[in-house]
Amino acid sequence: MAGMRRVIRVLPDAANLAFAAAGEFARAASSSKGPFRVALSGGNTPKDFLAKLASEPLKSRVPWSRLQIFWSDERCVPADHPDSNYRMAREALLSKVPVSPENIFRVPTELTPPEAAKSYEETIVKLLGPSPAFDWIFLGMGPDGHTASLFPGTPVVSESVRFVQSVHVESKNSDRVTFTVPLINRSKRVVFVVSGADKAATTKSVLENAATPTHPASLIRPEGGELTWLLDQAAASALTPGRGA
Ligand code: 6PG
Repeated sequence: MAGMRRVIRVLPDAANLAFAAAGEFARAASSSKGPFRVALSGGNTPKDFLAKLASEPLKSRVPWSRLQIFWSDERCVPADHPDSNYRMAREALLSKVPVSPENIFRVPTELTPPEAAKSYEETIVKLLGPSPAFDWIFLGMGPDGHTASLFPGTPVVSESVRFVQSVHVESKNSDRVTFTVPLINRSKRVVFVVSGADKAATTKSVLENAATPTHPASLIRPEGGELTWLLDQAAASALTPGRGA
């Protein structure tokens, strides 16, 4: 993994994991200059660390006016649907902090999945240029090793040209729009936040078989940037001590 730094931090429990994820983000955003482009992850795990960013002491440390907010994946549902990652982030964080609405770029799920993916990719290229590099991408991981909406066995996992794609995820009976591996691997920093014993075996496989990608999450290697895995003890419980560094 030439040119890429990988850091693994294990926190005692989910509460400490959430505080660590929020704290690392606040530190990076506050020490940056100019626009700070971040892509939020979806699902349940982010709710806790987004809530930490919405409250003191971290809330006043983040340069909210310089943040541009994106999503690393989205379910193709209306923005106010219970499954919407945008809705989850709005409720947990964005409705509580002074990010300007024009700096919040949700996936336009009112369009069809392919059109939404194309439109989102155009927005990203317009704002970040033809070789878009996010400052920070949050990712989660499922027990099956999916990350964003890059699910095992779906064609989007091997997408090598587009930065954003749509995909029908049979196992979730859900249409999704997702960042692709090429886009994620251009970013300056990728931070996985993974909690729970149900992810321990996959976490071990991904972190201890870096040379032979076993899951979509194994493909995430920001070549010129930093990859951070923030784990709670439960998710890290199958790691071989001293390995995986
Ligand atoms: C999504 C997410 C997805 C998520 C993992 C882990 O839209 O569901 O982006 O990739 O990060 O499924 O989800 P949990 O944190 O809820 O376990």
